Amino acid sequence: MTKLKLKKKVIYQGIILLLILVVGSIIGLNFYNDYKYKQTYEYKLIEHGYSVEEAKSLVDYFKENEILDSLLAKEKNATILELVKEKYYIHKYLDRYLVYAEKNKDTSIKDVVAIVNVNRDYDFYEHDINTDIEKGILLNVNKYYTLPKDFEPMDISDISIRYSYAGNKITKEANDAYVSMWNAAKAEGLTLIVNSSYRDFTSQERVYNNIKASSGQKEADKVAARPGHSEHQTGLAIDVFEIGNQATSTFKDSPAYTWLKNNAHLYGYIERYPEDKEYLTGYSFESWHWRYVGEEVATIIHDEDITFDEYYSYYIENQA
Ligand code: DAL
Ligand code: ZN
Repeated sequence: MTKLKLKKKVIYQGIILLLILVVGSIIGLNFYNDYKYKQTYEYKLIEHGYSVEEAKSLVDYFKENEILDSLLAKEKNATILELVKEKYYIHKYLDRYLVYAEKNKDTSIKDVVAIVNVNRDYDFYEHDINTDIEKGILLNVNKYYTLPKDFEPMDISDISIRYSYAGNKITKEANDAYVSMWNAAKAEGLTLIVNSSYRDFTSQERVYNNIKASSGQKEADKVAARPGHSEHQTGLAIDVFEIGNQATSTFKDSPAYTWLKNNAHLYGYIERYPEDKEYLTGYSFESWHWRYVGEEVATIIHDEDITFDEYYSYYIENQA
């Protein structure tokens, strides 16, 4: 073999070797990428029955492996995809959402989330939770969250008879906020008046039992809290009317009610039992019952048009 031929052969072999290396690397890289992709949640979810788009959106939504693992442990369910898009979705309630949605097919997914978040998938008074009294002005009291019998608010103070019927008391902070609100309403020609406020356990028991005696338990439960379950025991709630508009049946049509709806949050008060939210609060619409939670939280509740129960589950418990 001549030197030239040998050189050519070496070059030729070199090129072949290079080609093998390049092709091999490409194949190897593809295998590696394929292997890597198969480890991803996107791939696993697709294998689990989700479409590519659904899998991508689940991975995007749930950044945490634990949550994605829990989805893989469940059968693919189209309801899950609707649930996770809901603003107030709380992952730890997923199973309860699914059970409730399955049993209540006419309920919108938005409502399923709201209902479960506020424990309404349990019967009233069948799922008592000792409320966290350390939450202060944000403590939650309803048909599930209960106050100890001997709970008394700190810093309770008389509401001046300029703004209230005699004998009404609320906490100092709620009282100061009420006076500011009263003055703002007055400046617009509306004279607010409080006719009920702090009630201790025994007074609430009396109120509830009187209604129960006259109307029966079912009706009583729509309008009054059982003792230990009333916001009136917190010292943060007022029943407020307008001079000249003091009937529970008509206060909702008064200018004072409209004013409160638009402005009370600026003074830290929220409408606690709004119209059309009975399925969440468990109480008939009470246009007169306003609860102090502070301006910041009241503004969120007002702007997002949610009940305090919904606020508490999503913004306080879920984010704790
Ligand atoms: N009327 C309200 C619900 C109460 O009794 O606390
Ligand atoms: Zn009330």
